[in-house]
Amino acid sequence: MNSNEVRSRFLKFFESRGHKIIPSVSLIPENDPSVLFNIAGMQPLMPYLLGREHPAGKRLASSQKCLRTIDLLDVGDNTHNTFFEMLGNWSFGDYFKKEAIKWSYEFLTDKKNGLGLDPKYLYVTVFGGNDVIPKDMESVEIWKSLGIGENRIYFKSSKSNWWSAGSNSPAGPSTEMFYDLTKKLGNMTQVEFEKAEDEQKVVEIWNDVFMAYKQENGKVVGELPNKNVDTGAGLERITAVVEGKQSIYDTDIFLPAIEMIKKNSKNYEEKSARIIADHLRSAMFLISDGVLPGNKDQGYILRRLIRRAVFKMKVLMLDSLVGTEIIDNFVDLYSGVYEELKKVNIRSVFRLEEEKFLKTLNEGMKEFEKGTDPFVLFTTYGFPIELTEELAEERGTMIDREEFDRKMAEHQKLSRTAGAGMFKGGLGGVGEIEIKYHTATHLLNAALRQVLGNQVMQKGSNITKERLRFDFSYPQKMTEVEKKKVEEIVNDKIAEKLPVSFMEMPKTEAEKIALHSFNEKYGDIVKVYFIGNEQSGYFSREFCGGPHVSNTGGLGHFKIIKEEAVSVGVRRIKAVLE
Ligand code: SER
Repeated sequence: MNSNEVRSRFLKFFESRGHKIIPSVSLIPENDPSVLFNIAGMQPLMPYLLGREHPAGKRLASSQKCLRTIDLLDVGDNTHNTFFEMLGNWSFGDYFKKEAIKWSYEFLTDKKNGLGLDPKYLYVTVFGGNDVIPKDMESVEIWKSLGIGENRIYFKSSKSNWWSAGSNSPAGPSTEMFYDLTKKLGNMTQVEFEKAEDEQKVVEIWNDVFMAYKQENGKVVGELPNKNVDTGAGLERITAVVEGKQSIYDTDIFLPAIEMIKKNSKNYEEKSARIIADHLRSAMFLISDGVLPGNKDQGYILRRLIRRAVFKMKVLMLDSLVGTEIIDNFVDLYSGVYEELKKVNIRSVFRLEEEKFLKTLNEGMKEFEKGTDPFVLFTTYGFPIELTEELAEERGTMIDREEFDRKMAEHQKLSRTAGAGMFKGGLGGVGEIEIKYHTATHLLNAALRQVLGNQVMQKGSNITKERLRFDFSYPQKMTEVEKKKVEEIVNDKIAEKLPVSFMEMPKTEAEKIALHSFNEKYGDIVKVYFIGNEQSGYFSREFCGGPHVSNTGGLGHFKIIKEEAVSVGVRRIKAVLE
């Protein structure tokens, strides 16, 4: 029996017990800003658990796509993944504990219509009670009546056997089912059981939640209008148990991907292979639900998953084509179940992000080894902070996350201003190096006017982390002497450590005092950047959105590396800061 068979048996089992089968919704929750992703099958059913009537009735079952980033760092052990499918059945004020537990047991153990698992490898935990809700003796009795002996039933606290989707949510005590992967454990005391759980010898395969309470700000505030049932079984884990595997990564879901990695890797290592397989599968599902790599929310998670996978692929010395082959393999596995999977589009989104990251990966690694600021690694080399943290941890060091977060907040503030469009095309990304080049560009503009005259007007600007490029109006080639002179002026201004400041003012005012390039559009209020002091006269005044360094002192040595024509009457300078 493979994973597809497990899924279809589950749905059939509950259909024949009066449940309506509902399709999985997107990984991205609708109308629920409290989470980035659906983290459980019940997430899209919240309103109904809270009391609204569901159009499909009081009994539902589904296989829901879920994604939990909380387990990201555990990925690669035997039981954790990011994306997973959750099999679930629900009762909205219909059946309660007795039927829920009985059907869970039946589905797990029945040979004909269920999974045919041997009950002698099953263990269960039950809610042990707290100040508000008593110990769940009713569930204990139901388990006993089904043949689960008392020495396989354990009481657990609200930490593990209480379920809610966040602090404002329907909630309730749960009973969880576990399976002995080693098939050797037999009867265990509570202490032995907990140890086996830690060692991943027993694995949780199903959770029946008896949702009868309403939780607000993390506290139970009353009972729900209905006594509901919410169950959840991770398809990957159940499949591992059914296939007799120790790990979800050895099931039919992951094995082909792991084998592809093993076959192609020149430096194979199991945990990284599992991370690659997991992350690519998650990326595939995210992309097919319309997420694109980006710098915030779902897009950032997708970016992080792809980049971490690509990084691990590098470590295992895998050809980058293997990534798309793995994705294709997953698309084939799931395309009969989830129609939204379209191979070509997923592939191209993945490849584009991969390319972007690969371009800077080697350089970024060199910078990382030198101990470069994680903020620069992120803004300039595209290293997600979590990747930098992970690398640091592997080397037994730590990074200052608070400092990073502070710089990020500042950076976002600045790039929002830049995004207002005052320096369009000029600012590629806004790493520290780019910011320096940006200020150097203003110095160059002013110096050119001093040397060549006021007919010099900016025609274009482009900055990368290696150089600045500046286009300006001027009819002929600059002489060596003129170039030298411009360099000298800029370097003098750097040596003078001039302050850089800005002011917002009405455009009509600003036009009288500051430079602006004619082809840019400005709003009524503009920002003007000043370099220098008011007393001695500003060296430069320009319309600009920023960001800039606060003082020219740290720019380094300015050098023109090229001066050439771009079109009639327009010259181009490329210059570096050394
Ligand atoms: N909501 C519960 C869980 O996720 C049961 O489905 O475990």
